[in-house]
Amino acid sequence: MGGTMPGPAVFRGLAGVLLAVALVGLLAAGSSCTSGGTTGGERSGPPPGQAGVPSRGGMGFIDLPRPMTRGQVSLEEALAERRCRREFSPKEVALAHLGQLLWAGSGAPSTAGTPGAQGDATTGATHTAPSAGAIYPLALYVVAGHVERLDPGVYQYDAGAHALRRVLAGDVREELAAAALRQDWVRKAPLSVVIAADYPRIRERYGERGVRYALIEAGCVAQNIALQATALGLGTVVVGAFADEKVAGVLGAGEQPLLIIPVGP
Ligand SMILES: Cc1cc2nc3c(=O)[nH]c(=O)nc-3n(C[C@H](O)[C@H](O)[C@H](O)COP(=O)(O)O)c2cc1C
Repeated sequence: MGGTMPGPAVFRGLAGVLLAVALVGLLAAGSSCTSGGTTGGERSGPPPGQAGVPSRGGMGFIDLPRPMTRGQVSLEEALAERRCRREFSPKEVALAHLGQLLWAGSGAPSTAGTPGAQGDATTGATHTAPSAGAIYPLALYVVAGHVERLDPGVYQYDAGAHALRRVLAGDVREELAAAALRQDWVRKAPLSVVIAADYPRIRERYGERGVRYALIEAGCVAQNIALQATALGLGTVVVGAFADEKVAGVLGAGEQPLLIIPVGP
């Protein structure tokens, strides 16, 4: 770490997110996920009945390229090579790579056409990351500044459709970095993925313990993204030091931001 990086004490309360991953147990109870196809291109209007997404009239819905389930790098190689990286080249990130990262984070295998599409035997649902009771309380936001075929803006990932919904137009990387204690890698990365939790939704099922489950799930999602980025030759860093309300304000998010993951070549 360097530059304006906050000291280790800042991370004390945040380190539990990924430490908790090791404690993940089997939690099964009952809801299911949706699935849908992908083609590419922009559709007009939001999908019907999508809760928790700020409405900003006239914003687009963008299909992502179908994710791949075979790559050049083995899981073991990605594990061995993963490191937090805080410097990025100014080159743009391919839209297919962004889609791949989001799918790896917590996408629906059905959108890649894999056998996993039939779902978990107990819950009937499946994503690339586990979720207590298959509730999926996490939202994945993308703060895009320099992504191929994507206007700068804030987007929310729709896992069932493997698509992005634009919630805010304009490049807000500068504001995001300011909300993250001016960590320069947040400003310079072509994009950041922000993991945010819908606590009321998970509390409804699990009470206060639901908060723990959401944090554990966020660790799973973050590691999936980091490993996929490594396999694609992209750099990432997990950023937990930021002002929660400011980050939520930048995103226009109703959920609680948990982690910012800057990504770049
Ligand atoms: C919960 C959590 C919060 C973190 N927050 C930050 C952060 O705000 N800024 C940063 O530069 N790195 C942050 N890191 C990254 C750690 O500094 C990094 O993982 C650690 O130095 C180990 O290096 P490695 O990831 O390359 O193995 C965070 C990591 C975790 C797990």
